[in-house]
Amino acid sequence: MTVLDVGCGFGGTLGRLSERLPAARLVGVNIDHRQLTRALPTRAQFICADGCALPLPSAAFDAVLAVECIFHFPSRLTFLREAQRVLKPGGRVSLSDFVRVDKAEPANAVSRWLEDQVAKGYGRQSTWSDGDYQAMADKAGLVVEQDADVTRLTLPTYLYLLADGVSRAVSGRGHVPIRSTLLLFLLSALGAVRYRLVVLRKPGTPDALGKAGRAG
Ligand SMILES: C[S@@+](CC[C@H](N)C(=O)[O-])C[C@H]1O[C@@H](n2cnc3c(N)ncnc32)[C@H](O)[C@@H]1O
Repeated sequence: MTVLDVGCGFGGTLGRLSERLPAARLVGVNIDHRQLTRALPTRAQFICADGCALPLPSAAFDAVLAVECIFHFPSRLTFLREAQRVLKPGGRVSLSDFVRVDKAEPANAVSRWLEDQVAKGYGRQSTWSDGDYQAMADKAGLVVEQDADVTRLTLPTYLYLLADGVSRAVSGRGHVPIRSTLLLFLLSALGAVRYRLVVLRKPGTPDALGKAGRAG
């Protein structure tokens, strides 16, 4: 099995996969080389590149991951097209995404203001998706297999981050973007922003991952 983790950060996900899939070939891509130089020691290969322009061969991976990063990429659709290209037939791309519920396009002034505020703490994002993974999948040549709204499960994390942020601010131990975190918490709790887990499949003959899944 070959697994590509795009936007892999410090390699935490690949570290866990390395333990659970000892025979798998693991590759991590991240645009920020500083994170890769500090990546956790794993047997994964790390490549510094943009997730929307992968320097990787076509039809090479059984699975592509994009954990909490697609909203940073220049374009969700371009990434999905790249994921489709590097996936073997039957392979899957699994991702998590913050999705705005308001489908008005172009984004109105309030949405733009909210995005700016969140960006101040968490970095510039491509415009929050209108959540239409079905339309993007059609354009990218992928099939939506799962699309789950898990916003409720993310809410306790914001409370942890806020408490940690206050404690760090008081003790001078570093910085957590309290204002942006509070805003994201409120937007999520009110249902204006949803946290989604999406799995898309490249049509074609089931691959080693599918066989392994069935065998397991
Ligand atoms: C919120 S972090 C998530 C990291 C990791 N997936 C995790 O779950 O711990 C977002 C990551 O996306 C990376 N990133 C942002 N834009 C990118 C791009 N265009 N191509 C590849 N990686 C990108 C950032 O450097 C950062 O490591």
